[in-house]
Amino acid sequence: MLSGGRCCVSFFFLVVWWVNGCFGGDPYVFFDWTVSYITTSPLGVNQKVIGINGQFPGPILNVTTNWNVVINVKNDLDEPILLTWNGIQNRKNSWQDGVLGTNCPIPAGWNWTYQFQVKDQIGSFFYFPSLDFQRAAGGYGGIIINNRDVIPLPFAMPDADITIFISDWYTKSHKKLRKDVENGIDLGVPDGILINGFGPYRYDTASVPGGIAYQIINAEPGEPNKDTMGCIDCKGQIIIIQVFETCHT
Ligand SMILES: *[C@@H]1O[C@H](CO)[C@@H](O)[C@H](O)[C@H]1NC(C)=O
Ligand SMILES: *[C@@H]1O[C@H](CO)[C@@H](O)[C@H](O)[C@H]1NC(C)=O
Repeated sequence: MLSGGRCCVSFFFLVVWWVNGCFGGDPYVFFDWTVSYITTSPLGVNQKVIGINGQFPGPILNVTTNWNVVINVKNDLDEPILLTWNGIQNRKNSWQDGVLGTNCPIPAGWNWTYQFQVKDQIGSFFYFPSLDFQRAAGGYGGIIINNRDVIPLPFAMPDADITIFISDWYTKSHKKLRKDVENGIDLGVPDGILINGFGPYRYDTASVPGGIAYQIINAEPGEPNKDTMGCIDCKGQIIIIQVFETCHT
């Protein structure tokens, strides 16, 4: 019996070795991110903004399907953080999703290493801080998951891949906004709109009068070339957006 058991064990190892040897493991990529306040003035007022490695928006996580992503996040803020990876499926890894309930917040001054595989996914996603209104102060950035060469895209390769973040922005700090919400105070209209961290794209009732025509765009995942062109008019500049993939959460 004993020698039969041993035989099974070595056979098992042989199979594992063969599978690894033939197909290789999926690549690992490592990142070190420090989350800290930086001072910028996107709307002309100096503000404490949440930067990642000193950048706002944070660095783009540019990876390829099936890669294993390891991100050591150091929290240099004065309060706990969690970063969540919006749209990343985290199959069998839900505790890496960076939301309260599945993850403990990273205390101020501490670090935590997220590790997840972007398994069988392609497209554009984003990460952001999931706690305490911090997202209103930044801490977000883009995620690009490129296709593997063995799975070609069903359309021509775009000439460029440009990430555009359009966000409401308040000149009040996220802590003040948080306090207002806790006290039942209406946040009111945001002070402006930022595009990729830059302003001012202010609400301007003079240049955008009431009754202006608008269009509703439905972007459906899986229909990359159909009905997914949109236009946004920001201070006379037209931005064309093509949605290649979106996610429903
Ligand atoms: C992402 O990385 C790929 C190589 O893996 C590169 O070809 C591509 O230009 C990068 N995209 C961006 C937006 O940095
Ligand atoms: C914190 O960072 C250090 C230095 O990079 C690293 O060795 C350690 O594993 C990290 N700890 C966690 C919990 O991620």
